[in-house]
Amino acid sequence: MNTIEQFNKYVMHSYGRYDLVPEHGNGEIMTDEDGKEYIDFGSGIGTNSLGFCNDEWVEAICYQAKKIQHTSNYYYTKVQADFAKTLCETAGFSKVFFGNSGAEANECAIKLARKYSFDKYGAGRHKILTLVNSFHGRTLCTLSATGQDVFHNYFFPFVEGFDYVEANNIADLHAKIDDTVCAVMFEYIQGEGGVLPLEKEFVDEIFKICAEKDILTIADEVQTGVGRTGKFLAGEHFGKKADITTLAKGLAGGIPIGACLAGEKCADVFTPGTHASTFGGNPICCAGGQAVLNKLNSAGFLDEVAKKGEYFREKLLAMPEVKSVSGKGLMIGIELKTKNAADVVKAGLQNGLMLLTAKTKVRLLPPLTITYEEIDKGLAILAKLLS
Ligand SMILES: Cc1ncc(COP(=O)(O)O)c(C=O)c1O
Repeated sequence: MNTIEQFNKYVMHSYGRYDLVPEHGNGEIMTDEDGKEYIDFGSGIGTNSLGFCNDEWVEAICYQAKKIQHTSNYYYTKVQADFAKTLCETAGFSKVFFGNSGAEANECAIKLARKYSFDKYGAGRHKILTLVNSFHGRTLCTLSATGQDVFHNYFFPFVEGFDYVEANNIADLHAKIDDTVCAVMFEYIQGEGGVLPLEKEFVDEIFKICAEKDILTIADEVQTGVGRTGKFLAGEHFGKKADITTLAKGLAGGIPIGACLAGEKCADVFTPGTHASTFGGNPICCAGGQAVLNKLNSAGFLDEVAKKGEYFREKLLAMPEVKSVSGKGLMIGIELKTKNAADVVKAGLQNGLMLLTAKTKVRLLPPLTITYEEIDKGLAILAKLLS
């Protein structure tokens, strides 16, 4: 039985997978079981932020694994204290709660917002407005938060207390904000929804109306955060900082982590026993996260991410099959004129290039450390696929 047959015999079929078995990786290059090499323009959906097996990152997590791999959250660890300090200072927040994924970070944000409101105003002010076409995760609560009907199926009953505002529709936002709303949750650039940035006026209006009514803003930066767009947080492009911001994906460079960051207003809402996670703040993941932040905070690194993003855009827009390019930095959505994005991604694998889709677009989320040489090589393959 080969790997794929064995896998399919024992692992539940909840994913549509490609027939590819990655075996090892180095930087932007992945090698499969048969020894074939691929250039990585997907980074495990924006997760291997420093590429495959970056030296400093490997050293940091191996060092931590040999020292202490897990305690419990009944105790303190220095590595979590250090990472929390770096993360809060880098992102400009007061406190953080660590979980293990984007969905968990969002669950934490939702609980935090509801408790903030409950503590201050009592029961009944618990509704969270999210945006149509958003994506917030796969737990029951974050599926409920996700503003796409296609996800509201099979698993009834969903979690109550969500309503959905059409993105960039200020009138709809006003119509749906009432006395039962405690938070508005949004992605600055909808990732799974098709790499669609929000309009600045709409973001401004969310912050304005929320400030007036003491409604919390929750920025889901699970995909846009941690340098992906050329700033540490995508909110910086809009000149905004939400009350709560969630991170995951690239934060620990490819090992499980989720973070819910809270500003001063709501940093002390949780009291002992109100939220917890066995693995949350795991020492190895914190060590990995520290290595990622050390790299991102090094001089000029994020400017380079922005420059590489511009480089990608310029080259992509010169390809005749490309209709438009959306996103920011190294979060890139490519609208095609005639070809089907899913077919292009499949052809990419045959030609040694790992790509992603987002709805009808080809999506690129390459490692933040990608070199110009690998960008050129990968784009040459893509140009051939699109010709
Ligand atoms: C914006 C956003 N939020 C939440 C999630 C869920 O993250 P996870 O799969 O780590 O639970 C994703 C995953 O794609 C995402 O893009």
